Amino acid sequence: MKALVLSGGAGTRLRPITHTSAKQLVPVANKPVLFYGLESIAAAGITEVGVVTGDTEQEVRAAIGDGSAFGISVTYLRQEQPLGLAHAVLTAREWLGDDDFVMFLGDNFLIDGITSLVGEFEATRPDAHILLTRVADPSAFGVAEVDGDGKVVRLEEKPQRPKSDLALVGIYLFTAAIHEAVAAIRPSRRGELEITDAIQWLIERDFAVGSTLIDGYWKDTGTVEDLLEVNRIVLERLHARHEGSVDEDSLIVGRVSVGANAEIRNSTIIGPAVIGSGARVHGSTIGPFTSVADDCEIIDSGIEYSIVLKDSRIEGVRGVEASLIGRNAQVIAMPQAPQAHRLVLGDHSTARISA
Ligand code: TTP
Repeated sequence: MKALVLSGGAGTRLRPITHTSAKQLVPVANKPVLFYGLESIAAAGITEVGVVTGDTEQEVRAAIGDGSAFGISVTYLRQEQPLGLAHAVLTAREWLGDDDFVMFLGDNFLIDGITSLVGEFEATRPDAHILLTRVADPSAFGVAEVDGDGKVVRLEEKPQRPKSDLALVGIYLFTAAIHEAVAAIRPSRRGELEITDAIQWLIERDFAVGSTLIDGYWKDTGTVEDLLEVNRIVLERLHARHEGSVDEDSLIVGRVSVGANAEIRNSTIIGPAVIGSGARVHGSTIGPFTSVADDCEIIDSGIEYSIVLKDSRIEGVRGVEASLIGRNAQVIAMPQAPQAHRLVLGDHSTARISA
C-alpha cells in the first residue's frame, strides 16, 4: 500500500500567508500541519509516499526532504496546475502503478490517525473507501448518502440542498479502480476534476464504495479560524517541557512547553501554550492556546489564542487575539502618535484595528 499526499493547491483562503509559503506548512503547536499527516501514514506502516506539489514545491521539499526523518521514502510528483484532487491522482498515475493507496490531503488533520482505517480497508478491500464525519453545515463539503450497511449510494460536492449531514473527510482509500474513474470524468463547474465525481462514477458502475463514520476530531485547515482551532486541540494534549530559561519574576501556569534557549523574563505564560526555541519573551502575557514559533520576540505585549510564525516580533501591543502572524512579521506599538496607524501589509492582508 502506498500513500499519496496532496501538498499543492492554491491556498487562496489563507492569503497572504500562502503568497510566500505552502498552506500545509503552517505550524500548529509549532509543527507543520502536514507533518501530523506524514506521521500518521508512517504509524500505519506505509513507507512509500508520493507528495504532490505545486508552486511551493521547493519549500515542501526543504521541509520533508527524502522522508527519512519520518521513517518514510518520499517521491515528489509535480502537478503543473491545481486542477483538482482527481487531477492530482492523474498526475501520480505512473508512480502509483496498480497499487492500493491512501490519499491524504496535506492540510487535513485527523486526531486518531489512519492505522485502524487502513487495517479495515485491507481486511474488507472494497474498490474505494471514504471517511465521513457529521457536520453542522454540510453544504460547504462533499456530502455522502449511505445505506444501512455504510455502503455509499451517492456523493455530491458542496450541494445546495444536502441529503445528509455526512461530510467527506480528506482521506480516501483507493484500489487501482480509481484510475479508470479519474480518466473518465470531466471538469466540474469550478473547472476542477473532482474526486467526488470520480467516486460517484465508481458508484454508478456498481463498484463497491465503503465508508467509515469517524467520531474523532477532524479538521480541514483551509482558513485562519480552522488553523486556530486545530492549534487549540493539539495544545490541549501538550506535554509540559521546560528547556529554556525562566526568571524568578515570571509565572508559568498550566501546561507550557518552552523550547531550548528560549528566554522568559518578567512574563506570564498561561497554558496550554508553546514557546519555540530561541524565542525572547519579556514583560508579556502569552496564552492560553497560543503557539509562538522559534526565534520570535514578544516584548511588553499580550497575546492569546493565536499562532505566531518564526522570526516575528511583537512589541508594546496588548490584546492580540485570534491572530495568525506570518514569518518575520512585526507588530509594533507607536505610543507617541495614538491617532495614527502606520501599516506595511502584504497583498490580501487583513488588519483589524480598534477605532
Ligand atoms: P483545497 O483546500 O480544496 O484547495 P486549495 O489548496 O486550492 O485551497 P483554496 O480553496 O483556499 O484556494 O485542497 C485540499 C488539499 O489538496 C490541499 O492540501 C491542497 C491540495 N491540492 C492539490 O495538491 N492539488 C490540487 O489540484 C488541489 C485543488 C488541491
